[in-house]
Order: sequence, then structure tokens, then C-alpha cells
Amino acid sequence: MISFLEVAIDAAREAGGILLQEFDRPVKISYKGEVDIVTQADKRSEQAIVARLRAHFPKHAIVAEEGGGSESDSPFRWHVDPLDGTTNFAHGYPCFAVSIGLEEAGELIAGVVNNPVSGELFTAVKGEGAYLNQKKIHVSPIEKLSTSLLVTGFPSVKRSKNPNIYYYWDFTLRSHGVRRDGSAALDLASVACGRFEGFWEFGLHSWDTAAGVLLVREAGGTVTQFDGQPYRLGDRELLASNGQVHSEMQSVAASVAERTASGAALP
Ligand code: IPD
Ligand code: CA
Ligand code: CA
Repeated sequence: MISFLEVAIDAAREAGGILLQEFDRPVKISYKGEVDIVTQADKRSEQAIVARLRAHFPKHAIVAEEGGGSESDSPFRWHVDPLDGTTNFAHGYPCFAVSIGLEEAGELIAGVVNNPVSGELFTAVKGEGAYLNQKKIHVSPIEKLSTSLLVTGFPSVKRSKNPNIYYYWDFTLRSHGVRRDGSAALDLASVACGRFEGFWEFGLHSWDTAAGVLLVREAGGTVTQFDGQPYRLGDRELLASNGQVHSEMQSVAASVAERTASGAALP
């Protein structure tokens, strides 16, 4: 019988092919919010993924960003981001991915992140490790924040209410730097394979993080909220790291939170 992971890989590959076709054409943008973009590529990719998941697992629930999913009583729930990095895509910046994660009764059990531009396919199954193009991957061994490369992202909705710019400031000054790649799924996959030591972001959705969180955990990393509580899909804050720099990142986040709460935002 075909496994959950195999179906997710087939779906992510098909969707990746659709994104590449669409990337070669002029992009027609619609807006879901002030700077919250949606393209035909998001929709076509989602339709293909959802159709494939439904064909194999008609009873499973599907949460898909563009609304093509459906609820059910099944303990199995797929979280689908058909195009993570839509803003990059719409500007012709080749950094985007398909992200598909599967949860069983609240536990992440399988995840795939496909970067169709680089040909990198990240996969993980709970308890079986994380892989990049079938080669086992591990988080980086770097122990100090001061020698770490980090990554974060900013939301496309309610931007002025998001405090992340203050965190960006502090983390930039205390590390080798902070990248802003525009795809949370690839950010997490990059922590899993050791390119970044840490990632944080506010306000991500389950479709952004389901696959990537499993990748980081299976690659030996740590994923929590800022206070160290376990991260659950949909939590407001996410802090993912190689584990070694996790407590340093938590301390920085705590000091920024304290400063912003007292009104003294930037140092
Ligand atoms: C976005 C990307 C981005 C993150 C935003 C997400 P989308 O997803 O993951 O990196 O900073 O918060 O909304 O809209 O391109 O699927
Ligand atoms: Ca996304
Ligand atoms: Ca998306």
C-alpha cells in the first residue's frame, strides 16, 4: 500500500511542476488583504494537491490555505500550503515552495517541503529522521548565537501590529545576521539541514509550519514558543533552532518583549 509520505511527495512534486509552469508566465495578482497576494499558481497548485490527497484518503480532513480543503472527523489532518512564498513568486524572485504536513490526533507524523526551483525535496516521517533528496540531514552543531546565521519572516496581514521588527534588530546585532527569505517552509527546512541555526516568526498558520516543524524535530532540532512551551500548530509564536542556541534565542526574545512592553522599543 502507498504510504502517507509517498502520496505527499507525489502531490508536492506535481504541485511544484505547476508552480514552475506558472513562474514562466506573466503573473496575475489578486489581493486577499493590503499586501496579501494570491495568484493563479496558488489556486492551481492547491487544486492538484487536494485532488490527489482526496483520491487516496477520502476520509481525511484537509486544511488548505486557499480554502479548497474540507473538515472531517478523521484523526488525520493534512495542512497544505500550495505556494509558500507568494510575494517572492509574484515578483519573479525564485524562492518559494510547496509545503504538505500530516497530523494524526494532534501529532505531526509526515511532512514534505518541495523547492521546485532548486530541485530540493525535504521529507520527514515521525521517528524516522529528516531527509533532503533522500540523504539524511541534521541541524547545525554551532553552539553560540554570536556565530549563528538566523532567519525570520514578516506577515502580510496586520503588519503594523506585528512586533517583529524589534526582534529583528536585536537578533541582527547579536548574530552573524538575519536573513528574510520569504518562505517559512523553506526557512524551517533550512534550519533542519543546518544552513541556519535558528528561525522565529509570529502569526504563522498551520499550513506554513506543519511540514517544516517536523523536519526540524526529526533533524535533531527544537521547536517551541518563545517561553519554551512546546509549539503546537497555529500558536502565535514559533522559535525553531538547532537546539544549541535555543536558550540564548529565548533570552533575547524575553528581553525584547520586556523592552517593547515598557514602551522603549528600539535600544
Ligand atoms: C508567507 C511566507 C513568509 C512569511 C509569511 C507567510 P505565503 O506565506 O511563509 O515567509 O513571512 O508570514 O504568510 O503567504 O507566501 O504562503
Ligand atoms: Ca505560507
Ligand atoms: Ca501560500
